[in-house]
Amino acid sequence: MDEARARGRRVGFVPTMGALHEGHLTLAREARARVGDHGLVAVSIFVNPTQFGPNEDFSKYPRELERDVARCATAGVDVVFAPDAASMYPAGERTRVTVRALSEPLCGPFRPGHFEGVATIVTKLFALAGRSVAVFGRKDYQQWRILSRLAEDLMLPVEVVGVRTVREKDGLAMSSRNRYLSDEDRQRASAIPKALGDAARAWERGERDASALREGAEAKLRAVADSIDYVDVRDPSSLEPYAGGDRALLAVALRVGNTRLIDNVVLGEEPAPA
Ligand code: PAF
Repeated sequence: MDEARARGRRVGFVPTMGALHEGHLTLAREARARVGDHGLVAVSIFVNPTQFGPNEDFSKYPRELERDVARCATAGVDVVFAPDAASMYPAGERTRVTVRALSEPLCGPFRPGHFEGVATIVTKLFALAGRSVAVFGRKDYQQWRILSRLAEDLMLPVEVVGVRTVREKDGLAMSSRNRYLSDEDRQRASAIPKALGDAARAWERGERDASALREGAEAKLRAVADSIDYVDVRDPSSLEPYAGGDRALLAVALRVGNTRLIDNVVLGEEPAPA
């Protein structure tokens, strides 16, 4: 990367855990658009152990490096970086990175240690990537806000960009975890973008009451989810509870079958997801 930069090439960086789908390829294309034809686009593929809880899907998380490398080639990626765990977490390592406040609401209480694991690995990846523009998906909205803050607070030479969620035809947000859904689960999961879409339409009609927006969405999700972690309305920048303003983040996390799905819409900014 240093060599490319020395030759005047800008670097675009897309950190991923692999099992790449159209959403990731959209991030790679965004990176390309930002650095231009002369730039260098790198994708990292690393299933980061420190961001998975003991009862989460680390061991069964899909790993398909060969297919991922081929997919990267179709999206014009120049470099694929796929380190092993021992090189990212060598014996004796002791450092963890915590981004306060932003890590606490939404997924925070349901995935203890998750955002610390994400912030730690991404700090390492940013250190390796150096001056660059890093592109993330807004499906992981909280992660995107945390990583933007992290780059700013640690004065890293990385511009963090968030790209709008890429959706399936029926509106379901693309995710590597969608493959865990049975046909019946998949059918039920399509209620998620519909519930977000109904809230977006209510917002357009002038609804600004956070409880009404939340309860409306939650009632629809209760009908299909096996359990709900949260349905929450927050300030899109600070992630504090929404207390008025011309935009609001409606974010949800729930289980369909054994699969935990998250999704969100920024009311007042994005079109209805379905
Ligand atoms: O969004 C992901 O795939 C991961 O959380 C990330 C940012 C690559 C860190 O492991």
